[in-house]
Amino acid sequence: MKPINVGLLGIGTVGGGTYAVLKRNQEEIARRVGRNIVIRIIADRDIEKARRLADRDTTVTADAFEVVSRPDIDIVIELIGGQTIAKELILQAIANGKHVITANKALLASHGSEIFAAAQQKGVIVAFEAAVAGGIPIIKALREGLAANRIEWIAGIINGTSNFILSEMREKGLAFGTVLAHAQKLGYAEADPTYDIEGIDAAHKITIMAAIAFGIPVRFDKAYIEGITKLSNDDIRYAEELGYRIKLLGITKRVTKGIELRVHPTLIPIKRLIANVEGVMNAVVVKGDAVGPTLYYGAGAGAEPTASSVIADLIDVARLLTADPEHRVPYLAFLPELLSNIPIVPM
Ligand code: HSE
Repeated sequence: MKPINVGLLGIGTVGGGTYAVLKRNQEEIARRVGRNIVIRIIADRDIEKARRLADRDTTVTADAFEVVSRPDIDIVIELIGGQTIAKELILQAIANGKHVITANKALLASHGSEIFAAAQQKGVIVAFEAAVAGGIPIIKALREGLAANRIEWIAGIINGTSNFILSEMREKGLAFGTVLAHAQKLGYAEADPTYDIEGIDAAHKITIMAAIAFGIPVRFDKAYIEGITKLSNDDIRYAEELGYRIKLLGITKRVTKGIELRVHPTLIPIKRLIANVEGVMNAVVVKGDAVGPTLYYGAGAGAEPTASSVIADLIDVARLLTADPEHRVPYLAFLPELLSNIPIVPM
């Protein structure tokens, strides 16, 4: 059977991890899919770096639009981030009939409705497991594992950088700026780290989860957002003396008037599991009416954990393309379904 041909946009931290993991585990992945998955072309601004990382038979280009318009490409993986060129590239890929995998939470949280509508119209998939909570398969959990439930609320530590900062400030008494610089060096932080420390990145992620859990439109503009920049080492120490740990939480919840959507530092009793999630790890608690509370834990950022989610989507789409058309899962299962227009409550 002919291989699935993939075009990769961006070979930075996550792109590099994706390329490396796919290569390392290619035989197992091919067995699971029943077909080879091959990255045929990579686009990156830093063409020298792309050449260094890629195999000789992988084409390397500085022109990302070449990737989305190449007729032999079945799936485009967008890992360049940002909201302007990335949006154009994704819409172009969709218009050209390509399936799209992206980790771009900022783009989906703000322009998801437009992108999902375009995909639906064209009959292609937009998959985005890597956009939320790094390596934790939380999108699949919400869509598949918890599909029987009416979701009541979701609360999570969903920004690895800010959790790493809070942990290091508490455990080592380090200053905020020192730890942030370390997180940037480790490749955890966003290109603009204010997204991490001001709660914006967490708000992008909770907005996406709310859309899936409650079937509402993606409305990042409605989220209440407060980050960790006002917290001092003293705040963290005093909370500890009172038996609490401070965590930046993303929360979304059904209430009488609609849906709450918020991100802010929260005092959590130390004996709770989620209070003990440290470093770059993420944890998400989802409460369903049938199952009760469930907890998902894992690395929320970093090259290979995030690559794990990108490749899980790649395998899903590849399996779908490999299946007998009559037995294909409806592609809509990958797009948030609009079930209601319940309002998001102003906080
Ligand atoms: N900057 C993000 C974080 C990366 O620290 O969680 C993963 O989305």
